[in-house]
Amino acid sequence: MDEENIQDITKKLEGREYIRGRDGRVFVLREFEITDLNTVVSINRRVLPENYPEFFFVEHYRSFPKAFIVSELDGRVVGYMMNRVEFGWSYIWRGRPARKGHVISIGVLPEARRLGIAYNMMIRGMRAMKYFYGAEEVYLEVRVSNTPAINLYKKLNYKIVDLIKGYYHDGEDAYIMARPLDNI
Ligand SMILES: CC(C)(COP(=O)(O)OP(=O)(O)OC[C@H]1O[C@@H](n2cnc3c(N)ncnc32)[C@H](O)[C@@H]1OP(=O)(O)O)[C@@H](O)C(=O)NCCC(=O)NCCS
Repeated sequence: MDEENIQDITKKLEGREYIRGRDGRVFVLREFEITDLNTVVSINRRVLPENYPEFFFVEHYRSFPKAFIVSELDGRVVGYMMNRVEFGWSYIWRGRPARKGHVISIGVLPEARRLGIAYNMMIRGMRAMKYFYGAEEVYLEVRVSNTPAINLYKKLNYKIVDLIKGYYHDGEDAYIMARPLDNI
């Protein structure tokens, strides 16, 4: 590994990138590859109640490959972030249509948390949605009880822009959180 290319916050938009985590270990960000499918599906099942069939991951990979990010720690995939870009009414500029990045799913295995992996995947995913797919803003749904995730998004300057009652299958409400992408 080339020590000179290690940094704390992601700069790149594609390819492998080495980032130093909070505990000093270095993790890698890169685009999802189809050989990661089983690992990503299993991470999703382990860390989130919202689980998707394999084809759902494959379709996002085919449609928005630069914005489907995985992270490796100690040589194995420990996290993923899957996104897409849609056209619809802006959450930021009310009444105006916009290209909107949509964070579909993000997860990091418990043993790899609080190192900065999700934060860095979010930055890289947002940049990819903007620079490869023309997104002007980004939004996501999050359970109102999910404090770790809400804090992560607030740290990245997302604001709560809406509340959807009973959004999840167990009846829990969702916040919609969003931010512009002009400053990323
Ligand atoms: C939410 C999640 C993705 C965060 O992953 P992570 O790699 O540990 O996050 P990071 O280390 O990049 O943390 C970035 C910021 O998020 C917030 N955060 C992360 N974990 C937190 C926790 N347990 N409690 C409070 N805030 C937390 C903090 O603001 C943190 O910044 P700080 O460490 O400087 O305080 C991870 O906990 C996870 O996979 N949870 C289960 C899946 C999930 O909820 N996904 C989101 C669905 S909308």
